[in-house]
Amino acid sequence: MALKKYYLWNIGCQMNRADGYRAQERLEALGYRPTKRPREAHVLVLNTCVVRQSAEDKVTGRLSSLRPLMDNGQERTLVVMGCLVDADTAALRVRYPYVDAFLKPSDVEGLAAHVGSWETGRWPEGEGAGCLATPPQVADLVPISYGCDHHWTYCIVTIRRGPQRSRPIPEIVADVRRLVAGGAREVTLLGQNVDAYGGDLLGRSDLADVLEAVHAVEGLWRIRFLTSHPQDMSQRIIDRVAALPKVCACWELAVQSGDDEVLRRMGRGYTVERFRSLVASIRQATPDCAINTDVIVGFPGETAEQFANTLWLIRETQFDQVHVAAYSVRPGTPAARLEDDVSAPEKELRRRQVEALQKAIAGEISARYLGETVEVVVDGFQKGRWRGRTRTGRLVFFTSAAHWLGRLAWVRITWAGPWSMIGEVVAAADGSADELPGGPSGR
Ligand code: F3S
Repeated sequence: MALKKYYLWNIGCQMNRADGYRAQERLEALGYRPTKRPREAHVLVLNTCVVRQSAEDKVTGRLSSLRPLMDNGQERTLVVMGCLVDADTAALRVRYPYVDAFLKPSDVEGLAAHVGSWETGRWPEGEGAGCLATPPQVADLVPISYGCDHHWTYCIVTIRRGPQRSRPIPEIVADVRRLVAGGAREVTLLGQNVDAYGGDLLGRSDLADVLEAVHAVEGLWRIRFLTSHPQDMSQRIIDRVAALPKVCACWELAVQSGDDEVLRRMGRGYTVERFRSLVASIRQATPDCAINTDVIVGFPGETAEQFANTLWLIRETQFDQVHVAAYSVRPGTPAARLEDDVSAPEKELRRRQVEALQKAIAGEISARYLGETVEVVVDGFQKGRWRGRTRTGRLVFFTSAAHWLGRLAWVRITWAGPWSMIGEVVAAADGSADELPGGPSGR
């Protein structure tokens, strides 16, 4: 029996990864098996991102590289999904005539429909069906809302992903139950703006309600959520995170700049002072938490002094992680009308300064873990060592002859670097969160 194969290329944020997983599931339900070689595939899917010019360049490069394959007369179909696809696909069709379908972000049903109709007559009925399902994952992603109602002046996501659509809580819980039945022990609840969940449901429920409902799913050990926006974070959400033991107090709170004037021009809707008081509330409610953030450097008009304010905020807040990016113009956004007046070398310099500062901070935070015993969900095996994450999202490696994949371990930290730590396993801690022993740090 001929095997039906698919090639899936994914780039972008966690939401895009989640879309990629769903696309994978649907293709495997249609009887396709994955391949890493495009030339072996019958269905090729590029799940794209255009958040910055560098991401868009990778997408267009990959698309161009597939042209010879599509022109060689063999039977295959190429689908482009994700944020490259605008409401008007006419220009894309002209530029990439060898692409068979352009589908909006998250349009996994559209993908299944396209593949279904492309297949008609190509495969004898039932051929290739019953292929291996996606292997169970210890940690999985669950979108709880799509799109975003905010209009940051630099951001293309709202334009490409549309207004916020929150999913009903029973549907989210059903998804989590299905994933847990398939082996997931940790889920990350995703929203472009996760703490705005429910705003489009006339405020009948919020992220706190979602966390509580998902927390009740048996067999689940950990819940994460991202990305949060300082304007939408509420005390109710903070209190619920503090009260629910399965919810990891690992906050992804995007600040973007440490300067009020830059924040105003970005249209972020909060001040540095508001951000500071939010961080104080979070640390009061969840003292052992991690706080990660996103920063953009080189926004139009950002002076050296304004950039220094960002460095100052990073130093003061002591973030666990900073995801830093140099600003790049996104066509169609309001900021595209501003003069992109910070030079490319200056942006790069600022980006590196943020990275260097954050590396030093992350190293100091990591060093505090030395000698502590932390709870680790083991999600992989890499270069002869088991790999997992703490509740605060820190990467931990340890060696052991036993099989640890998908298990919960207590690990004593013996070495700590800025981006990862090494330890020795002390004990297994498998079971529901209620049965776990209390660790010295709880992190
Ligand atoms: Fe990229 Fe779209 Fe995500 S632009 S970052 S894939 S929302």
